[in-house]
Amino acid sequence: MAALAVAGDRGPDLVLVLVVALYAAFRFIPEGPVRYDNMEDHFKYGSTGGDLATGIPYWIWQAMPLVCADTLQAVAGERLAPDYRQRTLTYHSGEDAPVKRRALSREGYKALGFIYEQDAQGRERDLPIGISQRRSLGLDRVYINCAICHTSTVRRDSNDPGTLTLVLGMPANRFNLYDFEHFIFQCAKSGRYTQLPQLDLIPEIQSLGGNLGIVDRYMVYPLAIWAIRDAMHFLENVAGFSVRQPDWGPGRNDTFTNNKVFLYGYSWREHMPDWWLKGRDDPEAGEVDPEGIGIVDWPSIWLQGKRKQRSDGQPMQLHWDGNNNRVEERNLNAALATSALPPVIDHEAIECIEQWLETLEPPKYLFSIDQTLAEQGKPVYQEYCADCHGRNGRDFSGKYVGFVEPIDRLGTDPYRLNNYTETLAVNMATTYAEQERRQRTHPCPGGSIYQPEKLISTPQDGLAGRIAAVAAEEKTYRYKHYRKTNGYANMPLDGIWLRAPYLHNGSVPTLRDLLKPAAQRPETFYRGNDIYDPVNVGFVSTQAEDAAGRKFFEFNTRIAGNGNQGHEGEAFGTELPEDKKAALLEYLKTF
Ligand code: HEC
Ligand code: HEC
Repeated sequence: MAALAVAGDRGPDLVLVLVVALYAAFRFIPEGPVRYDNMEDHFKYGSTGGDLATGIPYWIWQAMPLVCADTLQAVAGERLAPDYRQRTLTYHSGEDAPVKRRALSREGYKALGFIYEQDAQGRERDLPIGISQRRSLGLDRVYINCAICHTSTVRRDSNDPGTLTLVLGMPANRFNLYDFEHFIFQCAKSGRYTQLPQLDLIPEIQSLGGNLGIVDRYMVYPLAIWAIRDAMHFLENVAGFSVRQPDWGPGRNDTFTNNKVFLYGYSWREHMPDWWLKGRDDPEAGEVDPEGIGIVDWPSIWLQGKRKQRSDGQPMQLHWDGNNNRVEERNLNAALATSALPPVIDHEAIECIEQWLETLEPPKYLFSIDQTLAEQGKPVYQEYCADCHGRNGRDFSGKYVGFVEPIDRLGTDPYRLNNYTETLAVNMATTYAEQERRQRTHPCPGGSIYQPEKLISTPQDGLAGRIAAVAAEEKTYRYKHYRKTNGYANMPLDGIWLRAPYLHNGSVPTLRDLLKPAAQRPETFYRGNDIYDPVNVGFVSTQAEDAAGRKFFEFNTRIAGNGNQGHEGEAFGTELPEDKKAALLEYLKTF
């Protein structure tokens, strides 16, 4: 009797436990990224898996510029309207209040260079290009993907927003990753973010239209807020080295110092010169660790398929220093930049992008081309440039294309080359060693099918060769092709008109400047403008601010790693007579 009574008493408890468990299962177990039905959207908004590791809850993302407007102002400086912070303090009422609030949040992100597309109704999308979304741990979470560094816009002039053209695969010239990282790291640490989430962050989320229910308000979001603070702290330990580096400015980042920190605990706090404290613009400030700076300009990533073959039948050596000749390994490493760490990486999502990039073409030149002049430039190009850069913008054949040009002959800035060390190459060879390569075909957005064996062989191998190559390869995603090199790679110039500023560190603003000896190239110029300069072939680089008075980033070539020397002398065309240079310039527009 007594035992029964106890069981009877527990009946309601059990029901409660069951209800809670069911709710929790329903609420917290569903997991997966937002999927898109075409490759363009998958590239712009799809997940690499990184959002599973460090994904910021959607509503926290929206609230951050508003609760951390001070931090944003400090980081973005004159890219942000001077009264922005003031405006975040005024709350609107009425039905469209959340809409206005969200527009203010987007305005904050735009100051960091984020690009927002419009939806079918002509309204700005809630998330910018380069940000993916997924459901995980009962929340919608967002984080960066490949497009954040590899997509941008180009315009004819400031009066004509109608020509604002989005180009997938071009360097993200406007996006300032340096400022974005410091904004989220600093915001996650700041008082308004962490101390009193109940007072600041949650009400802000509600004002944005979050409509959080009781469970979210009092449990899920407060926990998420703390979890994200810790995730940002982790990221800062890995990526925070950049505070001690010269300001990257928009369109650039340090590629491999991250790998050093990840792989063997390169202790950046000890190795970096303290530019931050000593005044970063002072070229004399601090001792520079010659291996501590590896800042590069973001490359274009079109036509990867044609890069799988060079004159000796091997794949081209790519990355600026040619340290790897496999697209797959370069992409896996690129994915690390999106927090797609080995345990969370979505191989299939990235493989689809990889295959799509094989044939993605750069757009045609936006302005008219003087065909007669271009024809005159063709033989000049063939004589001086084709052996190293390919026959033209689509035919990449050439004796030295895809090989590394020794630094002694090239003479360009050595920092990025020295940053990639032998020690790092050796250590990288263990990355992904534990992950079995699945070698499966699978569907991709838009209906194409991913074909794995194509990755591991060159087109000349034929089917038998491909199968042999697959069998011979170790069946893991382990990096097998990273090598220390002694220079920078001779690369194809497809879409070169959109790849300004030029050279691996983005130190030369226009093609016209690149054809001058270094002493005549601009010592400082402005980066971040998307208005095109068809006269000099590059983006407008002499204007300090845009039409709305927002300042561009001033790039200083005297700072360590920013040198604009090299790629000069007779062999590189900088001594050609002016008429030949003009013809060559016109011809390069056809690439
Ligand atoms: C944080 C910015 C960033 C993100 C995100 C990023 N990349 Fe890149 N990508 C770079 C940089 C920088 C390089 C050049 C690296 C170097 O040589 O130092 C590069 C190089 C490449 C290259 C080689 C280009 C060449 O010709 O040498 C490919 C291909 C590429 N990325 C694809 C991707 C893909 C695919 C993704 C997403 C999985 C991605 N990237 C994400 C910054 C980024
Ligand atoms: C000996 C080989 C060689 C020759 C000859 C050569 N280049 Fe280059 N070029 C390179 C290398 C290597 C780089 C990368 C250097 C760096 O970034 O530090 C480069 C970079 C460039 C870039 C910048 C690419 C980018 O995405 O920023 C352009 C443009 C270019 N070369 C055009 C030319 C033209 C035009 C000629 C002929 C007048 C020419 N080059 C001759 C090897 C060569």
